[in-house]
Amino acid sequence: MMLKRYSAIALFWIAFSSVIATGAQTSPFSAEAKQKAESLLKQMTLDEKVGQLNESSGLVIPGLAKEKPDDLIAKGGVGSILWQMDVKEINRLQHIAVEKSRLHIPIIFGFDVIHGYRTVFPVPLAMASSWDPSVEEQAQHLAAQDARAAGIDWTFTPMVDIARDARWGRIVEGAGEDPVLGSAMAQAQVRGFQGPKLGQDSVLVTVKHFAGYGAADGGRDYDSSYVPEELLRNVYLVPFHAAVQAGAGGIMSAYMDLNDVPASGNHWLLTDVLRKDWGFQGIVLSDALAVGNLVTHGYASGGEDAAYKAITAGLNMDMASLTYSQNLAKVVKDGRVSEAYIDQMVLPILEAKFDLGLFDHPYVDEASVDAVLNRPEGIALERKLAGRSMVLLRNENRTLPLSKDLKKIAIIGPLADAAHDIEGGWTVEGLFGKGSKSHPVTVLAGIRNRLGTDAQITLVAGPQPSKVYTSMLDQFTGAKSTPPSTPQETAEWIAKAKAAAADADLVVAVMGETASMSSEASSRASLDLPGIQEQMLEAIVGVGKPVVLVLENGRPLDIHWASEHVPAILEAWYPGTQGGDAVTDVLFGDVNPGGKLPVSWPSASGVEPLYYNHNLTHDPEDRPSFTSRYWDVSSKPLYPFGYGLSYTAFKFSNLHLSKNRMSVSDGNEVSVDVTNTGSIAGDAVAQIYIHQRYGSASRPVRELKGFERVLLQAGETKTLRFPLGTEQLHFWSPQSKTWVVEPSDFDVWAGGDSTASLHAEFKTTQ
Ligand code: BGC
Repeated sequence: MMLKRYSAIALFWIAFSSVIATGAQTSPFSAEAKQKAESLLKQMTLDEKVGQLNESSGLVIPGLAKEKPDDLIAKGGVGSILWQMDVKEINRLQHIAVEKSRLHIPIIFGFDVIHGYRTVFPVPLAMASSWDPSVEEQAQHLAAQDARAAGIDWTFTPMVDIARDARWGRIVEGAGEDPVLGSAMAQAQVRGFQGPKLGQDSVLVTVKHFAGYGAADGGRDYDSSYVPEELLRNVYLVPFHAAVQAGAGGIMSAYMDLNDVPASGNHWLLTDVLRKDWGFQGIVLSDALAVGNLVTHGYASGGEDAAYKAITAGLNMDMASLTYSQNLAKVVKDGRVSEAYIDQMVLPILEAKFDLGLFDHPYVDEASVDAVLNRPEGIALERKLAGRSMVLLRNENRTLPLSKDLKKIAIIGPLADAAHDIEGGWTVEGLFGKGSKSHPVTVLAGIRNRLGTDAQITLVAGPQPSKVYTSMLDQFTGAKSTPPSTPQETAEWIAKAKAAAADADLVVAVMGETASMSSEASSRASLDLPGIQEQMLEAIVGVGKPVVLVLENGRPLDIHWASEHVPAILEAWYPGTQGGDAVTDVLFGDVNPGGKLPVSWPSASGVEPLYYNHNLTHDPEDRPSFTSRYWDVSSKPLYPFGYGLSYTAFKFSNLHLSKNRMSVSDGNEVSVDVTNTGSIAGDAVAQIYIHQRYGSASRPVRELKGFERVLLQAGETKTLRFPLGTEQLHFWSPQSKTWVVEPSDFDVWAGGDSTASLHAEFKTTQ
């Protein structure tokens, strides 16, 4: 058995080498770095090699790390450190590595720089709502400069997991439900962090969580995923592959079982797909403790077996479990894995360190950190990008934009002045509970900034939304669970909210979820507005004054009542440090909203998972009977994928294909005119969808195949063009188990969301 496995590994490397020569990924690392790494490797002992495969915790926390990693570093036993943000401590540890370890190999410091460092950008789901990849690229470029200045060389970003279920807490960290939009955002983040090539100003990325994590059963974080190969290939793996093609240097393996094999010990995933099919030549890092947890999953019999299974699956570096550190050398000495194989696993780590310039410049310049992190251009960029990320969901009777002459405003809701929440979760300083040095602008502060002292602004925050259990972010900040309000408390808050509304010309309700209600280990069964927010909202609408609902949240929520009764709804997500000013820019019309939903918005919690690119049933919903719809609510989204309003209006026309008939190996082009039919400038997002009518497999009712966000002046028309070639038409056929473009008839739609009606068709032939 052992021998069998060993020879399989040997064979793999022969195959892998030939893939490297012709592989799909150009190596993320330079030829010079490769040469230097090879020669350094020759001087390394087995223990030093294993040391490079170990990422140690920089935090000493019971259950995580018992002691500081000083001794291990001095012995050459640490390749990387994570969860250490104190620049003095980073330098101290780096001095040990560079001065005391035998070969003076610097440490690469890693952390989750998800949406900014000190200047916090909108959460990833928000940035995806911009439908403008340059938003991600600009944000992550600035974040990279900040992170690098603060000693972080490696970020555990981007999260490119497709999320089709809003109950899953980590939906906030990704780009939503669509593989094409997700790929564009993934590639933009790789470019933003790594730049044209890795160097002293760039940060190595880790594309995560490979793969299928977003398909967790019931949306419960960490739960098993069962995703057939065709769905993986056609949907879940697509943004990962795109990121690899863009030159991503790192991939993080996911926590959960994928089709019964934990992702961090999954040879098919980490070797067959990632390295053989895609030619990936970078570093596979486990998720935190995931190698050790192969035992917890019931997949490995103990630490040694876990190390063996993870390394032979193709996983280079063990994050924080010390399983490699404690077992790998033995596995090699026992002859179960060759040292040559270990060499292959070490090389990309050394290559990354050379390219990042760590051998020449290992230390942080402590004196300049604050100046870099507080750059004013970061603040200005944040406000601009937040404005581009917001989605206007409803605007009856032109409630928005608001008049700048408003004199009396009531601002209601627990998120109106919640400085920590407006930045969302996974913020560098927020996670470490030191409070934010970024000075976030809340919506209340933004409106005050805008209207000055002439206006009377009344705040009724209401109680903190209740939460039965704490979630991951609460453990970092020390927050406790929040009990529900008593009937008396509820009545008192409602009375205060109604009185404030009655005395105002307009009400701005700022509601949603607190930041810790989203993200890791923050799934939920219901999508309601938590706590008594819905009751407060219904009460203030009952007063009869115009109400604008500003949502701050990390997932779509059940707002079906609001969607019929609140005249204006603006989805701000968690808009970041300048969020309050950016919300105000949109509310008062200085920014015309152009964001679109990256997810299908449910009308009720029970309709999840919900996604637009599902297959047809034998009796589709539009037919009168025997339908797959629920009998109590529509299974159609409240707001479709791709939807979002503007203060102007757009018309799509002249949809043309360059060919009405083409061979399967040929290319086609769609063109469509977009006209701004309103009286002010605004951004439209043109979206192209296709449907293959028949073939070797049922294909989704619609699939996004191209999009572009364009600015149009009042009355202006632009003609936009999108390719429809192999890349857009191919799919992984479950029958042939290959990528195919098939002879068939295709529908094409163009418009402003996934229900677009402007239609054309074409045929592909053999
Ligand atoms: C998360 C990862 C994260 C890692 C390191 C894990 O719990 O799943 O997304 O990168 O911690 O912070």
